[in-house]
Amino acid sequence: MEIIKFIHSYWAYLVVIVVTVATINAVIGYVTKREFVPRDFRLALFALIVTHIQFLIGFVLFFVSDKVRWFDSDTEVSTIMKNSDLRLYNLEHPLVMILTVVFITVGYSKHKKKLTSTPKLKMLAIFYTLALILLLSRIPWSSWLTF
Ligand code: HEM
Repeated sequence: MEIIKFIHSYWAYLVVIVVTVATINAVIGYVTKREFVPRDFRLALFALIVTHIQFLIGFVLFFVSDKVRWFDSDTEVSTIMKNSDLRLYNLEHPLVMILTVVFITVGYSKHKKKLTSTPKLKMLAIFYTLALILLLSRIPWSSWLTF
């Protein structure tokens, strides 16, 4: 359990950095209407891969973390909902991170289907920006790396 938490915690740095860089790159590329270059593709793909890996690690963590109480017969659902910390780990973080991964995946596949530079960058700019906002909104900032 500790090892999975450890990996999820540190891999999150990579996720935040790579998604931020890929998003800024796509937004600037779209706004300046420049050509779509191999670097754009590689950054978008890298962001897709690191978020999918984090998703898988998070999925495992969901079943082993002592902060997740769904499987604990002594904990009522109302207890989880009334406590903002428990609500974050049990509901908001997992759910919003799933949406983050969905937005990245949709943006990535939509950009691949476009044939010209500006529409490609536009798809990445829109979907990766939404994903980044969701991602940053539900990171447990107060506990991150204070274990
Ligand atoms: C895909 C993007 C994701 C990112 C960037 C992310 C990031 C993080 C971060 C920074 C923490 C805090 C770690 C710490 O306190 O040191 C955390 C905790 C946690 N995450 Fe994620 N996460 C993601 C996805 C998921 C998913 C999809 C799930 C579940 C299905 C999940 C389940 C958890 C759980 C249960 C914890 C609490 C672990 C504990 O302290 O016991 N995460 N996550």
